[in-house]
Amino acid sequence: MGDRRHQGTGPLGRGHSAPLTSGPASSCGTPTRATRRRPETMSEPVRVGLVGVGIIARTHLEVLAERPEVRLDFTVDPHAGPPSFRGAVPPHYRDMTEALEAHQPDLIVIATPTDTHAHLAVAALTGSRARVLVEKPLVHDLDSLDRLRALEGTVDVRGRLFTAHHFAFSPEIRWAARQIAEQPQWGPVTSITSAFHDPYILRGEQAFASYGSSWMDSGVNQLSVLACFVEPTELASAQEWDDGASAWYVCRYRSRDRLGSARLRTSWLAGSSSKQTALHFADSDVELWIDHTAMTGFAAQEGTLLASHGDDGQTPRKVAHYRPLYESLLSDRPDPVLGFDVAARVTELHRAAPRPAGVAGRGGRVSPWPSRCGRR
Ligand SMILES: NC(=O)c1ccc[n+]([C@@H]2O[C@H](COP(=O)([O-])OP(=O)(O)OC[C@H]3O[C@@H](n4cnc5c(N)ncnc54)[C@H](O)[C@@H]3O)[C@@H](O)[C@H]2O)c1
Repeated sequence: MGDRRHQGTGPLGRGHSAPLTSGPASSCGTPTRATRRRPETMSEPVRVGLVGVGIIARTHLEVLAERPEVRLDFTVDPHAGPPSFRGAVPPHYRDMTEALEAHQPDLIVIATPTDTHAHLAVAALTGSRARVLVEKPLVHDLDSLDRLRALEGTVDVRGRLFTAHHFAFSPEIRWAARQIAEQPQWGPVTSITSAFHDPYILRGEQAFASYGSSWMDSGVNQLSVLACFVEPTELASAQEWDDGASAWYVCRYRSRDRLGSARLRTSWLAGSSSKQTALHFADSDVELWIDHTAMTGFAAQEGTLLASHGDDGQTPRKVAHYRPLYESLLSDRPDPVLGFDVAARVTELHRAAPRPAGVAGRGGRVSPWPSRCGRR
């Protein structure tokens, strides 16, 4: 089938085989001149196909509906009914292949359970010429990553495949990345502690079916957040409990040529959603605290408040992530944090077995990061 079936004529369909990131890398959702600039082609409609009409699809639809250039071409879900989009109901299919027989989308959004991402991404890349946005995590195992890599040569994987690392676009993360960049006197980030809690215990088996495990679901967010601040290098240890509903991972990283450890706690045994990350800069004794649930942050040095970030409460949290994500994705230079190289590095870390102490080998070590991606 390859890329031959459809000749995309929309703005993304025409341009996607050219390198999209030839300019300077932007930084984890921070708009640079390149990502802020609206390409001339964006006056043309962008035909979108949405695959999976579950919980997160609602946010995609809300943000897509705000963008005047977007047309919702079709939706796909074998179980859920068609959603309404700007007051109309688009053609709805039970199977993506059937939809791609009838439509030539410019963008396919895959918002299905995690363990279906790989096979749907391959089918979307080979069965259309569209740009493909896959919900995080891109894939659920390393074999699936290899399957995507194997497409390179026949499909422009780097130019067409993107992963919705939405946390990297959260306002408090962008604020924190800017603080670190603008305050070199703080020194390297010497330790990080991150805790992501979701009350999915109430959703029982459904949570495992949609998201796999707490580490599968939130670990990938934590790693994409880490990549905004430091260069993650390997997993040092991993423990999971409660059939995967809670976990404790340690990830090593490099910050300004200093090595550090990030302690990553994920759990679904929680009364409500609560997500925070704390970064410590031992050389200056600065602490940077970011609250991803409230989208707030502050930096303190001993008893002094150095800087703070608040939120006006006007924008729901997920909309605050996906609005800049789509702004970047639909530009001519999507942020590298959405790109295949970053997703591959995140997956290598996320799905790798941690290296036992003192044992050489593949372990959780990853190849060098592809771009700055906001790291300092
Ligand atoms: N819920 C969130 O807050 C959130 C946030 C960010 C990312 N995500 C990611 O998005 C993905 C979906 O999460 P969700 O919460 O929307 O799950 P969900 O279970 O609510 O929705 C998934 C939908 O996909 C449908 N589906 C299953 N197989 C399909 C197929 N082959 N083709 C088309 N549709 C299919 C299901 O019927 C269901 O309606 C997961 O990978 C998750 O990690 C979720």
